[in-house]
Amino acid sequence: MSAFSEANRKAFDELSATYNTKPWQLKLSAQVSEALEKRMDWMGVEWAKPDDRTSGRQVRLLDYACGTGSITKALGSSVTTIRGIDISENMVKVYNEAARSSGLTVEQANAVVGDLFATDVPNELQDDELYNFDIAVVGLGFHHFEDPALAVKRLAERLKAATGTLIIIDFLPFDRKVADQPKDMPDMSTTIKHNGFIREGMNKLFTDAGLGDFGFDILSEPTRMELQSGPVERTIFIARGRKAPTVWGKVSNWFYSMQDGIGGQLGVKRDDGKWTAGLDGQTQKGTAPWSAGLSGSTQKESRTWQGGL
Ligand SMILES: C[S@@+](CC[C@H](N)C(=O)[O-])C[C@H]1O[C@@H](n2cnc3c(N)ncnc32)[C@H](O)[C@@H]1O
Repeated sequence: MSAFSEANRKAFDELSATYNTKPWQLKLSAQVSEALEKRMDWMGVEWAKPDDRTSGRQVRLLDYACGTGSITKALGSSVTTIRGIDISENMVKVYNEAARSSGLTVEQANAVVGDLFATDVPNELQDDELYNFDIAVVGLGFHHFEDPALAVKRLAERLKAATGTLIIIDFLPFDRKVADQPKDMPDMSTTIKHNGFIREGMNKLFTDAGLGDFGFDILSEPTRMELQSGPVERTIFIARGRKAPTVWGKVSNWFYSMQDGIGGQLGVKRDDGKWTAGLDGQTQKGTAPWSAGLSGSTQKESRTWQGGL
């Protein structure tokens, strides 16, 4: 592991217990979640729907740099299967605890420790179930990656041919004072490699990785972060790219969809009109929108699934 990745691992390991507990962190997480919810069509993914229950179609999400699971929480009800990857073992532990206490089985949502950008990607990240995603999302992790071009390329390799979509949520360029960092946190200064990104740069990264249909949207309301030196505002963007529809890609997707049919995944319609990924066929009454709970046991009050910085 490079020294920079090791700094990330260590800092986020320390941060995991208190991650997303301050009001400004919760607000930031809610902003990202709302931004995704408003852009479901824009993302262009064929989200989970009731027919999937009988057809067995899967909608697979890779929550990369998943942290404690705020992206999973935001999109969980629109997909059938979620895999998280994070460099921090403690973050992964918190993620999986939240998944289990939200009623999700390991098959439905599970995170593993790993770094897809290592020189030699370890065997445990080469497993079939960590490929062929309908959508991969990086929520506020991109400025923590050493080599953004390599990151986009490696994530693109994990997408379903012809339709797989990559979404990156991060900050427009921001000022960073030396040694300044979020309040009440361990030293994060060594974990940040980039002071934000611009549309043209993101477009080039996506294009160079073979992703088309580029989209770039900026959130109208800036987010407020509490730093040691006082509050600052940052602006969040969402970038989108998609695998090009080649003939081979279409054939390959057809092959995988045949396999999905055997798996028997299904979607469950909830009373609030949203879709929750589901295997048990129970309609979930009174569950909160963040519950990606598939077993019907998730309760709003438990607030087990929190995440997102
Ligand atoms: C700011 S947090 C974002 C967490 C989560 N996506 C969210 O929106 O709350 C950044 C995450 O990136 C992870 N991370 C940093 N570098 C990584 C890498 N090379 N590979 C995987 N995860 C990484 C950290 O451990 C941390 O959990």
